[in-house]
Amino acid sequence: MTKTPNLEIFNNSWQIYQEIIRFNYMEHQDIYSDLKKYITKNYPEPFSLLELGCGDAFYSAKSLTDTAISHYVGVDLSQPALNLAKQNLNGLNCSVELKQVEMWEFLECYSLSFDLILISFALHHLSSSQKQALLNKCYHHLNAGGALLLIDIFCREREPRPEYLKRYCNYVGSQWQKIERSDLDLALEHITSSDFPESIATFRTWAEIIGFNQVEVIYNGTFEAHNAITFYRK
Ligand SMILES: C[S@@+](CC[C@H](N)C(=O)[O-])C[C@H]1O[C@@H](n2cnc3c(N)ncnc32)[C@H](O)[C@@H]1O
Repeated sequence: MTKTPNLEIFNNSWQIYQEIIRFNYMEHQDIYSDLKKYITKNYPEPFSLLELGCGDAFYSAKSLTDTAISHYVGVDLSQPALNLAKQNLNGLNCSVELKQVEMWEFLECYSLSFDLILISFALHHLSSSQKQALLNKCYHHLNAGGALLLIDIFCREREPRPEYLKRYCNYVGSQWQKIERSDLDLALEHITSSDFPESIATFRTWAEIIGFNQVEVIYNGTFEAHNAITFYRK
């Protein structure tokens, strides 16, 4: 990976992100409630999960509680977020490893494979070619029959980035009313400089090229932006 995304907000102002998800502005409560149902139904036997860009793992820990998870590995660049993740994952009845490392570097250096890989709101910072390369790497870190779970912001099919940004920033400006003005400005600055969403159709095309068996949308967001999709490996 050549371009490093601007992730200052996650290193210096994690509490802003915590506020955003506390008010469910990115639909975490709904997405992770569906994810928990999905995992409970489809993974009744012990399984391993790698979470790339785990942040504080607040919602992933909730959705993995009382599942058959036997091994969790969380990867993130932000040490403040990982410190919180350690506490949030404490209640899981499985082995937990947390690594402060860039996700691509992790996949390059670590040879283990997993039953599930979760990337939640962490892929959209990369360029299109970086995203495609990362999905390809994930494919090779999945066990046969495993799946990649992608939760993220998405643009509409063929929606240019400026139009997406206008639409999403309008949504943020009109709906995220409980966030303090100065924090909202920082969030909007981060979105405008660092968010590079793709459409579901683009992911379907890449998945086919990489060799994923099937792509399934498991959560379709209210604002045509927050979705969860699953890529299955044969
Ligand atoms: C928007 S937060 C999402 C946190 C959590 N996954 C969630 O859904 O609430 C994005 C997280 O991804 C991490 N991140 C972004 N790009 C990364 C990269 N290339 N390598 C490692 N971590 C990354 C950031 O540090 C941050 O903690």
